[in-house]
Amino acid sequence: MLREVEKIKEDFKSVNPKFVERYEKIDDSDEFYLFMAKPLRCSFRVNTLKARVEDVVESLNDRFELEPVPWCREGFFVNAESVGGTIEHMIGLIFSQEASAMIPAIALDVKPGMLVLDMCASPGGKTTQIAQYMQNEGCIIANDVKYDRLNILISNLQRCGVTIARVTMKDGRFFKRFSDRFDRVLIDAPCSNVGMIRKNFKYLKLWSLKEVVSLSRLQKELVMAGYKALKPGGVLVYATCTLDPLENEEVIDHLLSNTDAEIVEIDLPVRRHRPITKFEGREYSKEVLKCLRIHPQDNDTEGFFVAKILKPS
Ligand SMILES: C[S@@+](CC[C@H](N)C(=O)[O-])C[C@H]1O[C@@H](n2cnc3c(N)ncnc32)[C@H](O)[C@@H]1O
Repeated sequence: MLREVEKIKEDFKSVNPKFVERYEKIDDSDEFYLFMAKPLRCSFRVNTLKARVEDVVESLNDRFELEPVPWCREGFFVNAESVGGTIEHMIGLIFSQEASAMIPAIALDVKPGMLVLDMCASPGGKTTQIAQYMQNEGCIIANDVKYDRLNILISNLQRCGVTIARVTMKDGRFFKRFSDRFDRVLIDAPCSNVGMIRKNFKYLKLWSLKEVVSLSRLQKELVMAGYKALKPGGVLVYATCTLDPLENEEVIDHLLSNTDAEIVEIDLPVRRHRPITKFEGREYSKEVLKCLRIHPQDNDTEGFFVAKILKPS
């Protein structure tokens, strides 16, 4: 096993030595590298706007072995490389979604009738999940800044029968002009995508510290804008599929230092790592310990970070 880990680390180094240097400070464990090199398990979520969980499970059981995702009632791991070609996917009964990516919409705790801002929405995995929890009642502003990603968002909303989404194309920072307006805000932020390396090695090649630093600046502005737009008493969820503290704990620490935001613990059956409170000479508020930091080896998923934030009334 030691030789296997050494070989994986050497492979990672040969693709991007700066990544390995950086992650020596974040997670240098053997398990981390073993899971980073392992292909990601396929998973999907049943779209309860169109079908009942039991009926879809019964239909898929003929062809696949399913295993429930412990933290999501509608989520299942499946022994397939992809479910994208199934009839159930084509007609919107299921949505192919990574299991840890199911957490933010659950943590958002929406109710039918609410006004929700999904600030970075494309391709719509979390928008469609939020819509099913809202039972297609209320309104979701599904926003993304990139024109070429809006088509896939709209097509996913249509395929899943979501009728309460209004699609907008704005920089997320635009929403700071709507003071105290939304019941819920989701910021599934653009990030350095380290969690996605298990899906595609191109993300290892693309990773750079310069990009992490620049993303961290943008993420702080997005979270401040989203918090401004949130109603008192409302909930904001901030999520990334990466593990760098600059893009996670530091962003939340920035929000806590500049507003009256409070962090709420996420009570789900998910194995997790302790959030990072000291990094490269910086010290973050101990409150960040309430956030969810998931490394790939914790649940055999993508790496993920989720913070649930309350705006006091
Ligand atoms: C992690 S992806 C979102 C995934 C999506 N929430 C889902 O569950 O399918 C991040 C998205 O943020 C968008 N984005 C990047 N910069 C942005 C900005 N300044 N404002 C709004 N969206 C932005 C990207 O185009 C990308 O689609």
